[in-house]
Amino acid sequence: MSKPRVIVTRRWHPEVEAVLTEKFDTQLNPDDHSMSVEELQDALRKADAVLPTVCDKVNAEVLGTDNIRAKILGSNGVGFNHIDLEAAKAAGLTVTNTPEVLTDCTADLALTLLLMVARRAGEGERHLRNGEWTGWRPTHMMGTSVSGKTLGLIGMGRIARAVAARAANGFNMKIVFHDPFPPMAEDLAGLNATQCDSPQEVFEQSDFVSLHCPGGKDTYHLIGAEAFSAMKSGAFLINTARGDVVDEAALVAALQAGEIAGAGLDVFEKEPAVSEGLLKMENVVLLPHLGSATQETRKAMGMRVVENVEAFFNGETPRDKLV
Ligand code: DGY
Repeated sequence: MSKPRVIVTRRWHPEVEAVLTEKFDTQLNPDDHSMSVEELQDALRKADAVLPTVCDKVNAEVLGTDNIRAKILGSNGVGFNHIDLEAAKAAGLTVTNTPEVLTDCTADLALTLLLMVARRAGEGERHLRNGEWTGWRPTHMMGTSVSGKTLGLIGMGRIARAVAARAANGFNMKIVFHDPFPPMAEDLAGLNATQCDSPQEVFEQSDFVSLHCPGGKDTYHLIGAEAFSAMKSGAFLINTARGDVVDEAALVAALQAGEIAGAGLDVFEKEPAVSEGLLKMENVVLLPHLGSATQETRKAMGMRVVENVEAFFNGETPRDKLV
């Protein structure tokens, strides 16, 4: 029997590419270019499975192409707001993602941002590398203490809970959270976490607000001018979720007005473009969407896609089926 034809839209972890090549009739993307609408449509017409990543916009336009041969989109990433699930379903496609395997890695990065922005680590490193450091002095680059402070979480899924565990157990932080679909009590055990009825309550109480809700129309610009005016003037915003959850122009305005103290961002509204205003500020830490970027995690994510696609072609329901 011939192997299913698989098209991979970007470079993946080399060990995963090797497995894909062995198991399927696989077309890789050796120069790692970002595929155009036409290329994605072509892939859907030529392959049995297309394996996109979170940066490929598999929207209604892409999925509206005629003569789709593909039966599954095995997406490499946990977020799925880059795929129009309704349009995919209407086109007869199964869609899968990669939950769980990137939880710890992303939580680690949220804490990295939180610590960096509170302790002025990015700014301090620039200062030293620029040859500006004149030596220790009592008033030099005083930041904000993290231990014992209140961390507010918007969304309380797996990644948020992993962040809460690190913050509560490692930094003795008090956790407050809001989630329209809160976890079960047993999943909150040991997290020192208090549920709030609204995001507003979280904004008002927190010294750090970390975002862990999905992207998409329900959370678009959830954090805007109103949220910033509710937050404490000494508070920091951390975003490892999706860029468009935050109204980036309103964030720049809030930072410029001193409505909040700083921000640590791994995702941006118009990725890979970043607002000019943010690039100029010392009190923001900016990372290029590195949440899941470790060797171990990227390999695990890729292998989870392999598992999903293999199950699908074996006639089973893939464990991470979204539609
Ligand atoms: C995801 O998986 O959704 C992240 O944004 C990239 O790892």
